[in-house]
Amino acid sequence: MVLNKSFKSIKKTKIIIALDFSNINIAMSFIKKLNPNIHRLKIGKEMFFLFGLNFIKKLIKLGFKIFLDLKLHDIPNTVSKAIQSFSKLKIWMISIHSLGGKEMMKSAKLALNSFKHKPPLLFSVTILSSLSQIDLTELGMFFSIKKQILLLSKLSKEIGLDGIICPGIFSKYIRKHLGKNFKIVSPGIRFKKDLHHDQKNVISPKEAIKFNIDYIVLGRSITLSKNPIKSLNKINSFILK
Ligand code: C5P
Repeated sequence: MVLNKSFKSIKKTKIIIALDFSNINIAMSFIKKLNPNIHRLKIGKEMFFLFGLNFIKKLIKLGFKIFLDLKLHDIPNTVSKAIQSFSKLKIWMISIHSLGGKEMMKSAKLALNSFKHKPPLLFSVTILSSLSQIDLTELGMFFSIKKQILLLSKLSKEIGLDGIICPGIFSKYIRKHLGKNFKIVSPGIRFKKDLHHDQKNVISPKEAIKFNIDYIVLGRSITLSKNPIKSLNKINSFILK
């Protein structure tokens, strides 16, 4: 398989592509257009349930850094065992939900000791980019979204996680309170003309780069684009400016 080498390398904001495909052949022909030195791949529940660890092994073999975004949220023992179950793989990043609580996050962190190779980075999802203030209130969460994200981020940092996942719009606020060594991943990125789909807290790629977000997750704005490479080049040009 020949992979695209035409992108220049990026030192600042890094790109993670959310591979949410239900067809493996379509996914592979899309992946061919990417460059593993620039584009990291995020495998979520859909592709993990459909194609499992073999698919991930194949992508690792092609040289891609893999973010296994299973957003684990369960009792501490179950989360720990789930993480240990892929300890033989060279996965670059994994995710858990900070709403699973302190003990669950501690167990997840401890489970990283079982990895044969360098353990993956451990990130926690704070508040999903698909949730609005009204959604939070419905769930009995009465802080403002940004205060809720800060609270969960502080907890995640205290436990020693590498960073958090939050809507880009709140990244500046989190950065201000927690510093630049605690990393931020932001999904919900859309070009101005894109549909927002189920995402409620959305920012543009240009804004994400201006906010110095460490990793931006690009899903449907790229995978549904008529010309994904043109869209990625556009984003690269913002990053390289
Ligand atoms: O297609 P879109 O750009 O909306 O995809 C966003 C991706 O990021 C999805 O794979 C989704 O599961 C993931 N994600 C998210 N919000 C979070 C964490 C992950 O949308 N807080």
